[in-house]
Amino acid sequence: VKELIRLRVNGADVEVAVRPNATLLETLRDDLGLTGAKKGCGEGDCGACTVLLDGLPVSSCLVLAMQAHGHDILTVEGLAENGQLHPIQQAFVEAGGVQCGFCTPGMLMSAKSLLDSNPAPDDMQIREAIAGNLCRCTGYQKIVEAIRSAAETLRRHRRPA
Ligand code: FES
Ligand code: FES
Repeated sequence: VKELIRLRVNGADVEVAVRPNATLLETLRDDLGLTGAKKGCGEGDCGACTVLLDGLPVSSCLVLAMQAHGHDILTVEGLAENGQLHPIQQAFVEAGGVQCGFCTPGMLMSAKSLLDSNPAPDDMQIREAIAGNLCRCTGYQKIVEAIRSAAETLRRHRRPA
């Protein structure tokens, strides 16, 4: 038997009927068509499924959809605005932080949560923030550089003219 839950996803209120054991990841991908969050391990180890739940990164493969009832979800699809890449996405592209791309949506969400709470993180804090996101391709250095550069861009944008 499915139950109706209500979520706010990328700024829009949605209602969706879910099985009691459906994960948030399955609901986002299969019911809502948001396939940015990826299923890697399905066990909370790889971070490919990371989304923000009330602003904080979670492994959506470990969260039941029903636990997200009434909460605010941000996925990678919610980052770009008006057809423009979010500055964090732009920085990943420019720094070479996207190779195969499988880890990228999760990395971006972890980075977004970090920069929302800490606009000027040092490299150690950046590495801590992405510690749960595995990347097989980049060796992480380019991702750290991308997040550092995104932080600079965002600080510049925030500064009053
Ligand atoms: S798929 Fe969720 S942590 Fe790997
Ligand atoms: S870019 Fe391939 S896993 Fe990170």
